[in-house]
Amino acid sequence: MSAAFHNVIHLPRVQRANECLRPTRAEISLSALAHNLGVIRDAAHGSAVLAVVKADAYGHGVVPVAKRLAREGVHGFGVALAEEGFELRAAGIESEILVLNGVIGGAHAEVIEAGLVPVVYELDELRRFHSAARGPFRVHVKVDTGMSRLGVPMATLDAFLDGLRRLPNVRVDGLMTHLACADGEDTFTAAQLRSFHRAVARFRAKGHRPRWLHAANSAALFRHPASRFDLVRPGVALFGHAGASDVDAGLLPVLRLRSEVVSLRDVPEGAQVGYGHGFIARRPTRVATVPLGYGDGLLRATSGRGQALIGGRRVPIIGNVSMDLTTLDVTRVPSAALGDEVVFLGAQADDCIEASELARWAGTIPYEVLTNISRRVPRFYQE
Ligand SMILES: Cc1ncc(COP(=O)(O)O)c(C=O)c1O
Repeated sequence: MSAAFHNVIHLPRVQRANECLRPTRAEISLSALAHNLGVIRDAAHGSAVLAVVKADAYGHGVVPVAKRLAREGVHGFGVALAEEGFELRAAGIESEILVLNGVIGGAHAEVIEAGLVPVVYELDELRRFHSAARGPFRVHVKVDTGMSRLGVPMATLDAFLDGLRRLPNVRVDGLMTHLACADGEDTFTAAQLRSFHRAVARFRAKGHRPRWLHAANSAALFRHPASRFDLVRPGVALFGHAGASDVDAGLLPVLRLRSEVVSLRDVPEGAQVGYGHGFIARRPTRVATVPLGYGDGLLRATSGRGQALIGGRRVPIIGNVSMDLTTLDVTRVPSAALGDEVVFLGAQADDCIEASELARWAGTIPYEVLTNISRRVPRFYQE
């Protein structure tokens, strides 16, 4: 392990520092994270940045990530769940924290006491907050302009505003919407933004003065200047992917998923490798076995389709990825030896496997590749 890396605080004890026994780990570059924040700030043109760090910061480890971003001066953090907000408060994060999915299942008083700002879209939920709060409290209201998932539907906005009148302690500090197709379909995005403007006008007509208007996720931030308003909500861009395949923003991958060769063997033509005859050798083949599998988050759909880097060269994943182990064909890398580093995500020598590439092999999206890396993989942080 490089001395430049130090371990995370919230992993089980056995996975700390020099006690990390298996050579499989995720190395997280906090300087790449800071670089990406810089790119985002340039693209945001003065709008404040709410860093979306739900799902353990997209698999990168929320506490070290949020601490670094707080040090870099982000306006605040977006989480999906109240629990994620409590975790940040417990770690000493004092910035604004917005609970994007609202609070489902209680803890209304605790949310307000912890200074979390809930996103609301149901009157009943808002009433529960109102009863739990001891005085005025802030919320952001989410408006559904076309995602049809969460948010006050445009058709029931007046009823929502009427209900709001009877809750004098509610301060509508923000109005937000979420864009369904910011990575493509520009006409739909434009229609969503028009609806959002109409919704904002209706809130203002009723005397609300929301300080924050926001709509932009990563893709919208880069592709739709009109969506930036006062605040942008990038998530995946912080971690190196612009959220849209047609944007080259100069973001850097933050996470490097690496392991080492623990076994090497030469198999003859006709040999089968791994579970279920997933690979049958068409020629004598040198097989390297690496202790990382789908139990660590390497998607099984990369079986027979994905690649890894060893000795700075790309080699194919052969056979079925199993829970703890993956096999590679290293026949074309004669120097491959026990203990050699293998990289599944991130850079080695001059090459780099990005989350978007691994996602393509597995028929999914970079978000799933990153959030899937399991807690069994210790995270090491490079400042
Ligand atoms: C409401 C909301 N805003 C912003 C984001 C960040 O999205 P992205 O990671 O695409 O930037 C998300 C994540 O899905 C979200 O749910």
